[in-house]
Formats: sequence, C-alpha cells, structure tokens
Amino acid sequence: MCGIFGYVGKNNNAAQITLEGLKLLEYRGYDSWGVAVKSGKKLDVEKHVGKIGSAALKSSIINHKSSIAIGHTRWATHGGVTVQNAHPHLDCTKTIAVVHNGIVENFEELKKDLIKKGHKFISQTDTEVIVHLIEDFLKKEGFASSVRDAFNLLKGLNAIVVVNAVSSEIIAAKNGSPLVIGIGKDEFYIASDLIGISDYTDKIVFLKDNEMIILGKNIKLLSLPKGNRLKEKIEKINFKFEKSSKGNFEHFMIKEIYDQPRIIRNIARNYSDQFKKMSHLIESAKGIFFIGAGTAYHAGLAGTYLFSKMAHMHVNTSVASEFNYLEDFLTKESLIIPLSQSGETIDVIEPLNIAKKKRSKIIAVTNSIGSTIYRMADFNILLNAGPEKAVASTKTYTAKLCVILMLVFALIKKEKEAELLLNNAAKEAERILEDNNIKKIKEIAKTLKDSKNIYVIGRGLSYPSALEASLKIKEVSYIPTEGLAGGELKHGTIALIEKGTPCIVFAPKDETFESIISNATEIKSRGGVIIGVSSKKSDVFDYFIEVKDIAQAAFITQIIPLQLLAYFLAVYKGLDPDKPRNLAKSVTVK
Ligand code: AGP
Repeated sequence: MCGIFGYVGKNNNAAQITLEGLKLLEYRGYDSWGVAVKSGKKLDVEKHVGKIGSAALKSSIINHKSSIAIGHTRWATHGGVTVQNAHPHLDCTKTIAVVHNGIVENFEELKKDLIKKGHKFISQTDTEVIVHLIEDFLKKEGFASSVRDAFNLLKGLNAIVVVNAVSSEIIAAKNGSPLVIGIGKDEFYIASDLIGISDYTDKIVFLKDNEMIILGKNIKLLSLPKGNRLKEKIEKINFKFEKSSKGNFEHFMIKEIYDQPRIIRNIARNYSDQFKKMSHLIESAKGIFFIGAGTAYHAGLAGTYLFSKMAHMHVNTSVASEFNYLEDFLTKESLIIPLSQSGETIDVIEPLNIAKKKRSKIIAVTNSIGSTIYRMADFNILLNAGPEKAVASTKTYTAKLCVILMLVFALIKKEKEAELLLNNAAKEAERILEDNNIKKIKEIAKTLKDSKNIYVIGRGLSYPSALEASLKIKEVSYIPTEGLAGGELKHGTIALIEKGTPCIVFAPKDETFESIISNATEIKSRGGVIIGVSSKKSDVFDYFIEVKDIAQAAFITQIIPLQLLAYFLAVYKGLDPDKPRNLAKSVTVK
C-alpha cells in the first residue's frame, strides 16, 4: 500500500504540486518517498528513506521548473527500506520512470527473462521489472502500447503510473489498486485516492480495473488487455475533504481520542432515520455478514454479540481476508456489511467483488465518502468522524460501535433508548478524558512500559474489546500483547503467566462479571498483575481503571482508557504514536 501522485499540465511547478500531493497520501506508507520530473529530454529523480515531513524543504527537485512529474510514498513489500528500493524506478536508459502500488506476483520469472536480455537491476523490488519491461517493448513499439503490453504481463493487483523523458504524457494502468484522475483546465492530476486531488478539482475519473489512461494535451481512456478506446466517465464530486490538524495536541492519536464524545453525540442525534430504512434490509436478509480487517473486524465481532444479545439475531462476522474462502453460500438474499475506515482495504474489496457477482446486498460502513468500498455499496452509512490521521484507529472504532448499536436498536424499535444510551456514552467518554483519570492511566503506563508482554481478557461483548485493546497496545508501543476470551486462558495461554505478568481485565457489571473475575483470580494465583477495567472495584485488582456502568453502551466507552494507555505507552517509550513502524493507515495490498 503506497501513495501515488502525478501531474501534467500548464503549471511548471509539477514537482512542488506532486510533493504536496504525496504529503496528503503519506498515511498510505511512509518508509520512503521519491519524485521524478521531466526536464527537457531527461528525467531528474530524487528519493529519500523515511517520512516526507521536513525532508521536503531540503530537496532540490521541488525547484525544478517542469510541467510533468510523478511521485510515490512507499510501504515496503519487496526489498528493504533503502534509497535503491524507493520509487520512482528507472530503466537502464534512465529515460522511463515508474511508480507502483500493488504486488507483481510473477516478478521473479519476468526478472529472470529480462536479465537474460541484458537488463541491469539495481533494486530488490518487484516494481523494477515493470520499467524494464516497458523499455524492452519500446525497442519495437510506441510508448502507450509498450506500457499496455508490459502491464498485461503483470500478475496480481497493481496500479502503475509512468513517465517517459521523450514524451509529454503520463500513462497509468490499474487492476485492483485504486487510481483516480482529476481533470483541471489544461492540466491533469492522478492519485491513489481523492484526498490527494480534491483541493484542485471536482471533476474526477475513477479508473476501473483493467483500464489504462493517457494524460497529456487531452485524456484518452483505453480498455485492457487490447487497448480499445473507451469514453471516460467524468464524475463531479460535491464534497471537500475536511482538513485535519492536531490543534493543541502533540499527536493526531490523542487528538482523535478526544474527538470521541462529539462524534458519539453526533451519531445519537443524526442517524435514526437512516437506520429505520436499513432495518427492513436486515430483517429480510438470509444470512448477514460483517466483514472487516484489524480494528474494523473487532467492531464487527462486537456487532455479532450485540445483535444476538439485543435482537436475538445471528449475524456472522468474518476476518475480511478469510471471507474469500467462506463465500460459496452467498446468494442474492445475503447481506454483507463491510466495515472500513478508509474504504480502500483490499482484503475487504476482494470479497465484496465476489459478493457483487452473487448479487448479494451491501451496506457499507465507512469513514471515506467516494472511496472504493463506498462506491461498491448499495447503501452507505458514513461515520462522519472527520479524517482519522493516526494509523492506530480510535474514533472510527467507537463510531462503528455506535452505528451498530443504533442499527440493533432500530431493529427492535427502540431508537429513543439508543439515543439515550449514546448520550450517556458521550458523557462517560468525557469523564474518562478528565485530567484526574488521564493522570491515573499515565501512572499505569509508566508501570507497564518496560513489560515484555501483556495480556488482555474479556468475555461476551468485552471479548472484542480485549482484542482491540491488545491491537492498540501492539501497534503503537510494540509490546507483545495478546487479547483473548477470558475462558480461553486456561486452555493454554496461562502457561505464559509468571510473576509480574500484566493482565488487563475487562470486567463490566454484566452477565460476564463473576466469570471474568474468576479468570483474573486464576491469573493472579500464577503471579500475574491485574489491571481491572470496571465500574466496580475488586480485591483481585492490583490497578483499577474505573469505567461507569452505562448498560448496553458500556462496550463503546470501555475501550477508551486502553486507547489512552496504548498512547502513553508509546509516548513514554519515545515512539511516534501516529506513524508506527511497518504500518500504514490504508492497506491496499493483499
Ligand atoms: C487499526 O488501528 C489498524 N490501523 C488496522 O488494523 C485497521 O483497522 C485495518 O487496516 C482496517 O482498516 P480500514 O478500517 O481502513 O479498512
């Protein structure tokens, strides 16, 4: 999952425009970045390891006066994080440059053939084969057909953008990974998603799978593999992406944690009508499936518990990347509810493609209007949580839980009760964020920051919270943390508990309380240290994090202290909570 940006047009500060575009796309990968500019009959390329951040100021390429440039911000899949492996990649003649998002699954065999033909490779990436393939075809064909024939040889889900020193055009092709084109007056923008170009224009072409586009004096859309001419569908987008700043906060993660009370209130106030409409779809469906990845999967799992507990309905939840292998039974009566903050997660998009072929209905719950999943859905529920910049998802997790609660209560015709529950949840979230509670969580973070491992347990609706809490701690503090169902511990994992092993225990005052306290006691008897998250103190707790009992909405707010704990663990370990290593905000490769 990388960020791609390109510009061709009347403006001769293409390099500067491209760099600004890459900054907006850096959430898609921040291992390295690079820009290629056409200057005269040659290409100038600049590549750096690390985040764009302030490095841009020192870069020399942004001062190049040129009207054609492409750029890339990388999340490494093949080849380490080095300047050589950063994009753009050049061919042997250094006159063709390519940026790529995706994985060329057959790159080794393609590379072998090209090396036999004398091509010299300088990187360990899968991407570099693309530019050498184009170079090879160019020996006997024109630029466009060379890109077409090279792209047709690639296996896997890929999007590429190419410039050629002797051509005044940018050529792009896609199959799977997203690409959008912005149409300006005598200029064109191309990017991995709308956020990179919506400031410049509202006239958009969403490139579809197996399409190629040529941008120069005008726009030419072609179908792949043959290259037949197509009429481009120009769509007008009537929304602008909200800009997000940290305000007085040090990081986006903590700012987004503090956004939650407002977002919870907004969902309580504005959504019930939408859900009434959706509830008949749910009632009439034969087989309902939440699908999501990471944090989104945890929200779906909480949905399965809540639908069962409140609506006595069975709703399945599947890890999105596994749903491909479970789809045989889907029919046109099935209902798929994909949950995705970015709306671009390929592990969710792939099973949705199959579900669409089976004419199953799709209600998408996303935070990204105009995203691929948003456009694939029959119905959309937008979280309206505002941009979520930190890689660790916080406010869109609780927003998903709020939406699911409203959906369930709409089904059982108790919308008013749901509004009340969510308003109580918003108040409780504000209470958790009060200074005295923050102080307590900071103390616990100081105690746990050097832990070599942490466990998190919960039962029923708190089990997904245990999974989510462990994911938050892992992804920003890098402390090995395992979340599991309280009852599962004694079936193996308890063997890992020794003197001083920290274990966080979700113990809400509900039907799980007694059992989870017994599980905590089992851990304590092995020397474990218990951090209790509950509305009620217990002797088994060594540390107590109070979360008020707000009935069925407790599963929404009980995660907030753990979001805070994860954040402070990262800060006390001197780590960047917004851009953790090896991660990206939107996962567009398999
Ligand atoms: C969560 O903090 C992670 N960033 C990750 O697990 C994320 O939830 C997952 O990649 C799904 O992303 P999506 O909601 O944008 O589809």
